Amino acid sequence: MNGEFHKQYLKEAVPEIPADLGILRSTWMSPSNIALVKYWGKLPVQIPANPSLSFTLQHSFTEMNLTISPGAGNGPDMDYYFQGDHHEAFESRIREYLQIISPYFPFLAGSKIRITSRNTFPHSSGIASSASSLSALALGICSIEQQILNGPQDNIFYQKASFMARLGSGSAARSVYGGFVTWGKQEGMDLTSDEHATALAGKIGPAFESLYDAILIISPENKTISSSQGHALMDDHPYARARYRQARENLEKLTRAIYGNDIKTFIRITEDEALGLHGLMMSSDPGYLLLKPNTLHVLSLIQQFRNEKSIFLAFTMDAGPNVHLIYPEYERENVHTFIRVELLKYCHQAQWIDDRMGEGPVELQD
Ligand code: PMV
Repeated sequence: MNGEFHKQYLKEAVPEIPADLGILRSTWMSPSNIALVKYWGKLPVQIPANPSLSFTLQHSFTEMNLTISPGAGNGPDMDYYFQGDHHEAFESRIREYLQIISPYFPFLAGSKIRITSRNTFPHSSGIASSASSLSALALGICSIEQQILNGPQDNIFYQKASFMARLGSGSAARSVYGGFVTWGKQEGMDLTSDEHATALAGKIGPAFESLYDAILIISPENKTISSSQGHALMDDHPYARARYRQARENLEKLTRAIYGNDIKTFIRITEDEALGLHGLMMSSDPGYLLLKPNTLHVLSLIQQFRNEKSIFLAFTMDAGPNVHLIYPEYERENVHTFIRVELLKYCHQAQWIDDRMGEGPVELQD
């Protein structure tokens, strides 16, 4: 299932760091994203079974500093610190990831790598930390490669970073770009690819220019099933084919709604996708349930509030119990009052995160 970019990146691989370059550094702030059309189900080498669409967040990001220097030469020699400490689970995921991308970056094998990372959001908050951290790492490694090659950070750079981020976590491919982002080949959308994400180009409807995402922490517990296990359950899912067709149709309808400023369709498709994702989980074999009673209270209150007030407010969810409220800037006051008065009592310790659409990753200069 490897495609043209895979072949090209293998061909261009940089074998080693020239000795005169010494220590190379890169620091990226890379955000998480929230999917509106969900990626759920995959083929080997992290190829999505259906295309997805997300928007990139602004305040929920990983800041990752990467230092690479010539090392002993028999496999990458890595030190990893998360919020100043060792973190075994994250470290082993990063090691595994470095292994996966090593054919594209042979210079890593002979290097000493030091990574320090921090997140601006709590773990298990319903925000995908794999999307922000693996995109930050992919961008960092691509930057180091650019320093070796003395190349520009142009479209090709971001495309490659997105390809590499995808190999760590599918949704991380989308975090490399700001605004609305698709990942996965979609008929009629020329630039889309299964191998990397693509930012939605051109003028979108005014209601969608500055979306907000209020993330209600219904439960901070770890998921009972990892997303890789969840994707794998789609392999033999009785509704898989219908789902993949539906996702393509939903992507088409949702992008048309975003460009055409069609708020009603946007709300309908966004909520359909969230409920559909959990429906797929419940109808897997074995079926599993990630929604909590308080999730359902919140969802029905949102629907009721919207019907009464006729406002632009939609919900979505990831593979977990927490609820994302999506709304535009002009509804901010209404939505904040609604959260405070009606919804916080259903949240774990009244916790929620006030985020919004962002412009994508930023490289910090030393
Ligand atoms: O990137 P992964 O493998 O963690 O999968 C993400 C799956 C969802 O968050 C449920 C949907 C999505 O498109 O982000």
